Order: sequence, then C-alpha cells, then structure tokens
Amino acid sequence: MIKLAPSILAADFARLGEEVKEVDQFGADYIHVDVMDGHFVPNITLGPPIVEAIRPVTNLPLDVHLMIENPDQYIPSFTKAGADIITVHQEVCQHLHRTIQLIKEHGMKAGVVINPATPAETLLPILPDIDMILIMTVNPGFGGQSFIDSTLGKIKLVNKWRKDFGFSFEIEVDGGVNSKTAKRCVDAGADVLVAGSAIFAQEDRNKAMQEILQAVKG
Ligand code: DX5
Ligand code: ZN
Repeated sequence: MIKLAPSILAADFARLGEEVKEVDQFGADYIHVDVMDGHFVPNITLGPPIVEAIRPVTNLPLDVHLMIENPDQYIPSFTKAGADIITVHQEVCQHLHRTIQLIKEHGMKAGVVINPATPAETLLPILPDIDMILIMTVNPGFGGQSFIDSTLGKIKLVNKWRKDFGFSFEIEVDGGVNSKTAKRCVDAGADVLVAGSAIFAQEDRNKAMQEILQAVKG
C-alpha cells in the first residue's frame, strides 16, 4: 500500500487545523511537517509549537522532516510536541548513529534524509538502525520545485538493498511529487509520497489526492 503524506508547507497557515483535518478526512496516511532553520536551508518555517498545535487535530502520525543544523538539540522538544517520526539530514549529522539512537530513545521512529547530490551509499552503515529513508527529489528549502529525475536511481538502489538485506524501512520521496512523477517514484520502490503543492495548492484536495493515488496504480 502506497502512503500519502501531504506537506503542510503548502497549506494555508491561517487555517492550519482545518487544512490538516481536511487531508486526514480524505485519506492521508501521514502529515508531513517541514522544519527549516535558515542555516541548513535558505528558508525558515516552523518549530515545535506548530507541531503541538496540530497534534490534537489528527490521529495521523506526524512525520517531521528536520532541515536544521544540530538536530540533536531539538529532538526532546519535538517529542514533547507530539511528533511520531523524525527524519534528519545525513549532511548535518556528524554522529548519525548517535542521533538516530536519540530519536528512538525518545520513543519516535527515526529516519535519514539525503539531498539529491548525496550518494545513497552514505546510508549503508545506518540501514539496520532506521525506520525510514527519505530521498529528496528536489533540493530542500521550498515547495513547488521541479522533480529531479536523477534521484530515481537512488530510490531503486535503496529498494534493492532493502530486498537484498531483508530490511523493512520505508522509502519516502519528497519534492516535486505530483500525479505525473509519483508513478516513477513508486515503480522505483518508494512507499511514501510527500506532496505539498500537488495537494494544498489545489482547490479540490480530495480530487488531488485521489489523482496521485490513481496515477501510481495505472
Ligand atoms: C522541501 C520540503 C518539501 C516540500 C514539498 O524542502 O521538504 O516537503 O513541502 O513541496 P512540493 O510537493 O510542492 O514540492
Ligand atoms: Zn519535506
């Protein structure tokens, strides 16, 4: 079963609770929350208070994508706020096992994200320890960017490792995912599709979500 994780980055922040309820009601599997610090990525978004604010609005897992430096420092705050899954960027973690361990000790699922230019091989030593791999299909920082085709090879590769070594981590993709690009991601091995503008920038969110799910079946 392919999972859909609408990214609230493209939602109307003035009506955030309603936005989250809407995609929950239309069958979202996770709520994807993009945290940016203005250092690792050239944009600033939101932090634990917003996670805490949407926590009572939905029972769906909150999938928190940390695009921040020093993620270890903020893991306790995100747990307390109600995050279920935390993904951290390989590019900022000098001691990746330590960070993954810290997330798990706080009772959350732990995943690692790689940018489009980061080789998948950097994940090999951490594969036994993680619940999720997030392959960025754009450079992180903004919604509404175009899908980078060369990331498909990495999705295929981590999917092959998952099969060959018998791991069960989920493969998530993020950036430029829409009804045209989603099928290529799924064919390559992705299980979780993050979509921001392809859902929240559309008038009819239900239709937008069903279109993506239909496209991956076809
Ligand atoms: C980008 C974020 C994405 C973003 C995706 O840095 O990590 O989650 O919201 O937006 P779309 O789907 O519009 O590319
Ligand atoms: Zn994201």
